[in-house]
Amino acid sequence: MAYKHWSLDDLPWDQIDPHLVDLDTLQIIKAAALVEYNAGDYGAYLENVFAGDAIFIDAVQTWVKEEVQHGAALGKWAGIVDPAFRLEEAFALFRQHYRVNINATQSLRGSRCGELVARCMVETGTSSYYTAIADRAACPVLKRICQHIAADEHRHYKLFYDHLKRYLAQDRLGRFSRLRIALGRIAETEDDELAYAFWAANSAHQPYDQGTAIRAYSRRAYSFYQRRHVERGVAMIFKACGFNGQSWIFKGASRIAWWMLDRRVKRLAQAAA
Ligand SMILES: [Fe+2]
Ligand SMILES: [Fe+2]
Repeated sequence: MAYKHWSLDDLPWDQIDPHLVDLDTLQIIKAAALVEYNAGDYGAYLENVFAGDAIFIDAVQTWVKEEVQHGAALGKWAGIVDPAFRLEEAFALFRQHYRVNINATQSLRGSRCGELVARCMVETGTSSYYTAIADRAACPVLKRICQHIAADEHRHYKLFYDHLKRYLAQDRLGRFSRLRIALGRIAETEDDELAYAFWAANSAHQPYDQGTAIRAYSRRAYSFYQRRHVERGVAMIFKACGFNGQSWIFKGASRIAWWMLDRRVKRLAQAAA
C-alpha cells in the first residue's frame, strides 16, 4: 500500500474562516484528533496479535502513519479555528488517562479473525462519520480534510476485510460469531476512549465523568448522520459478517439502525435542553 495519498501540505489552511465553524463541530473534531493521533498504540497491539504475519504488519505500519496524519490534520485545523487548542497538550492529557493495552499477545476478540472483524467495524464507523461531517461542514477546508480521511478509512476497511478473508480461509469463524463481535465492538463506541478524548480536548477544567462526557460527545457527533450514512455503514457491517447486503434482512436492519440513532439523537437533545 503506497503511503501518502494526501498530505497536510496539500490543504489550503489560509482559507479557514473561524466564523464558519460552530462550537459543536469544533468540539467533536478536537476529540477525533486525539483518538486518531493515538493510532501508534493500536499499531503496537496489532503487531503483537499478528506476530509472524509480515505482510499484515507491513500494512499496519502504513495504516498507523495514515491514522496519525488524520489526527495531525484535524488537530491543526482545530488549532487554527481555536488558537487556545494545542494538540500535543490535549493529547498528553488524554494519554495520561487512556491507554490501549499494547502488551496483549492475543486478540481481545478471541482470534485473529475476530480482531479483523473488530477493525472492520472501527473503519466502518470512521468512514461513515467523516463522510457525514464532510457532507455537513460549512468550512470548506474541514470538508476537504474529512473527504480525504473518509476515503482513507474506506480503504482501511478494505485492507482489514481482505486480510479477514485470508484468515477465514484457515480459521473458520461463523457469520453469527462475526456479528456478535461486530455488535460488541460497536457498543464499545460509548466506552471510555471517546469520552476521555472529548473531556481532554474540551472540558479538562471540569472533573471527568464518563456518562457526562459520552453524552456530550454523542449528542454532537450523532446529529451529523443522515439516513444514507447509516445505510452504508450497515452494508459494510453485513459484508464483514458475511451477510447479503441486498436482502430484506439488510433493509430491516438499516431501518432499525436509523430509528435507533434518530431516537438517541432526540433523547440526547431533550436531556441537554
Ligand atoms: Fe482515521
Ligand atoms: Fe482508518
